[in-house]
Amino acid sequence: MATHRPQPRIYVALDAADKTRIRFLMEALDPALCGIKIGKEAFTAFGPQVVGWARERGFPVFLDLKFHDIPNTVAQACRAARDLDVALVNVHASGGRRMLEAAREALPAGEESPGLIAVTVLTSMEDADLAEIGVGGTAEAQVERLARLTADCGLDGVVCSAREASAMRAVFPGETGLVVTPGVRPAGSAADDQRRVVTPAEALSAGATSLVIGRPITGASDPGKALEAIVAEL
Ligand code: C5P
Repeated sequence: MATHRPQPRIYVALDAADKTRIRFLMEALDPALCGIKIGKEAFTAFGPQVVGWARERGFPVFLDLKFHDIPNTVAQACRAARDLDVALVNVHASGGRRMLEAAREALPAGEESPGLIAVTVLTSMEDADLAEIGVGGTAEAQVERLARLTADCGLDGVVCSAREASAMRAVFPGETGLVVTPGVRPAGSAADDQRRVVTPAEALSAGATSLVIGRPITGASDPGKALEAIVAEL
């Protein structure tokens, strides 16, 4: 079974392209309680230095750039990500077998290696959106198909909604299987633009191995306290 770096229970999504805001959040959060998810917005604005800021503070980093390109390009991007000392990297499973295998080859399993996971179907897409791009059947079936392909290519897991978490955990079982779940809201907090939200505890009991949480923490007046409250709830 593939091994990878240990994963935090919570990755806080840093969806900000404002430097002061990013530095404030990194100061406010405790690296013993969470990792940081850096996505396209912050990475496009600040590049690798934003990863460096998080690493200097001791946060494990989920580099959420969802690579999707020809196999050689994705493999090189994965190597570049490893050199940034990140804990978790993702690609689009719809890049296909050769792309997934190239990513795995670039990031061979090992205790020092980042976890390598795939996005199956973007949760913004419904059956009709898939039909329009020539994918027949239901989104659910497509998620299952791409998850199996991902596992078959030796990757560690998937990003998915909590609704899919238990089915995905069956595809990626054991200590090293990774099921990373956004759309999480502590009881009583605003859903924002998320449609189907679950509480952190529900997501974990559904099979999630790590949670991605953004606004309930980053939008709180005291982000550090908000994180602590969620950890306490777990
Ligand atoms: O603020 P919020 O908790 O909704 O942030 C969730 C994070 O997870 C955002 O970075 C969002 O882009 C990401 N995400 C998501 N749903 C997915 C995949 C990623 O909300 N299906």
